[in-house]
Amino acid sequence: MNIIFIGDMVAGAARRAVMSALPGMKREFSCDFCIANAENSAGGSGITAGVLREFPAGLVDVFTGGDHIWDQKDFQNEIASLGNFLRPANLKRGQPGRGWGVFDSAAGKVAVISLMGRVFMKDSFAECPFETADRILKEIPSDVKVVVVDFHAEATSEKAAIAHHLDGRVSAVLGTHTHVQTNDDRILPGGTAFISDVGMVGAANSILGRDVTAVIRKFVSGMPTRLDVAKGAVRLDAVSLKIDGATGKALEISKISRILDK
Ligand SMILES: [Fe+2]
Ligand SMILES: [Fe+2]
Repeated sequence: MNIIFIGDMVAGAARRAVMSALPGMKREFSCDFCIANAENSAGGSGITAGVLREFPAGLVDVFTGGDHIWDQKDFQNEIASLGNFLRPANLKRGQPGRGWGVFDSAAGKVAVISLMGRVFMKDSFAECPFETADRILKEIPSDVKVVVVDFHAEATSEKAAIAHHLDGRVSAVLGTHTHVQTNDDRILPGGTAFISDVGMVGAANSILGRDVTAVIRKFVSGMPTRLDVAKGAVRLDAVSLKIDGATGKALEISKISRILDK
């Protein structure tokens, strides 16, 4: 089974870039299933149902969230209506939405789990991701072999730790949140594909998708500063995975990073 996973999409330019480039990428990688992190898809912060519905049906199979999950005020009311959106499974108990699901693809069933880290994340408002992952893995039906985890976290140590914790029990642990693609893509000894961070879809000339001048001003002045989304050519970061559908073991993980014309 071939899977494409797209890093955090930052605002409208990223959505348009994915919509125009993804059909060709899916053909190129014979993609059976596509996951995209959408936590910054609405104006750079959070998600709206309207933004996700812009995507043609079947282009992206599952969208995932992150720490910006509730930035758009209506999303907590909209999330229940979205069958293909996952928010971090380890949010505090009682929050709306769901954190994992089993989805169909032409090449068989895929379980997707969204989890969030707690190291250097705002307010540490998540439950333990390690224990949450262990609990979810007991609930996934045994005939579902392919399991992909979006681990949305800041610290590379926490990302590597959960990847090794889940090695051999899931097909892939893919980091998101930092918006910078890392060069540590590999398959762990037990057969789990791992990368600390997939990267982002956002302005190539930016600081994590934000306007360079504004971010520098914020650091230098120390004052609250509006960080507009940067403009210009878009970088599309993703990974492609090749997974043995019978065993769920990863066979290959490859980084994708392309600059798309405006
Ligand atoms: Fe994030
Ligand atoms: Fe993000």
